[in-house]
Amino acid sequence: MPLNLGDVVPDFSCDSSVGQIHYYDYVGDEHWSILCSHPSDFTPVCSTELGTLAKLLPQFERRNCKVLALSCDSAESHRKWIKDIDASGYCGKSTSTVSYPILADEERALAVKFGMLDPEEKDEKGQPLTCRAVFIVDDHKKLRATILYPATTGRNFYEILRVVDSLQLTDEYPVATPANWERGEKVCVTPSTPDEVAQVVLGDFSVVKVPSGKKYLRLSKDPGYKTPKVLKRGMVETILGTEYGAKLLPTLGRLVVAFALGGFSSSFASSKRKEKPVHTTTQTSGWKKI
Ligand code: BEZ
Repeated sequence: MPLNLGDVVPDFSCDSSVGQIHYYDYVGDEHWSILCSHPSDFTPVCSTELGTLAKLLPQFERRNCKVLALSCDSAESHRKWIKDIDASGYCGKSTSTVSYPILADEERALAVKFGMLDPEEKDEKGQPLTCRAVFIVDDHKKLRATILYPATTGRNFYEILRVVDSLQLTDEYPVATPANWERGEKVCVTPSTPDEVAQVVLGDFSVVKVPSGKKYLRLSKDPGYKTPKVLKRGMVETILGTEYGAKLLPTLGRLVVAFALGGFSSSFASSKRKEKPVHTTTQTSGWKKI
């Protein structure tokens, strides 16, 4: 049976590049997890993908996500391959390594269980290879999103981070994220949320005027995004208290105005691939999706 969104992902045990793995134990009760399948060891696109995942691992960790990869070769083969990936330049810093587990699925038991086989791509023995599948699993072990690519197309792991951001934000607030959304950009109020509730939970929102006259396109600021605190109150007071404070005042004034007008937040939001502060999920509103 293929896994559907919302299904609890089954537990499994297998060998891996870091030894025997028990999926549920490895992920624990509080983490999300990302499971990425790969066609085969010692292949070009897979090497770039696994290196890139190693480079982005801190960003997944900041989102409370454990990363696991899967390839239909032995753990021994994975460990040899990792040396190549580490040397490939795709891991970022020269000291970075593929530290997350690469699951060994020589018999394709997991690939079959998770529906990851690509009938179009065969190995030299004629066996189907795994496609480039991504399973995004939440902290209740529920499958929240899948992405399926053919062997010939490498994945964009920034997109996977973006999907995790969207899922974690929309779990917390009555919002949905629009096309190409990135953290800090405007979000849509979900259709089932009454205006009065949106106002209380999200604050001011705008309604986009459309020819039908229907008020369904409601936009609010990203409720999970905290604008970087460029100027902390104590800092400003300290600076203004010094003899240089008065000279700095015009510059500081401009900075404060830019800050207040959202210049900082919008410039952060549009710097697409730069790291941004993570959502603050501790700010719970007691909101339940309806
Ligand atoms: C690759 O990872 O480069 C690859 C694997 C199988 C088919 C095509 C490309």
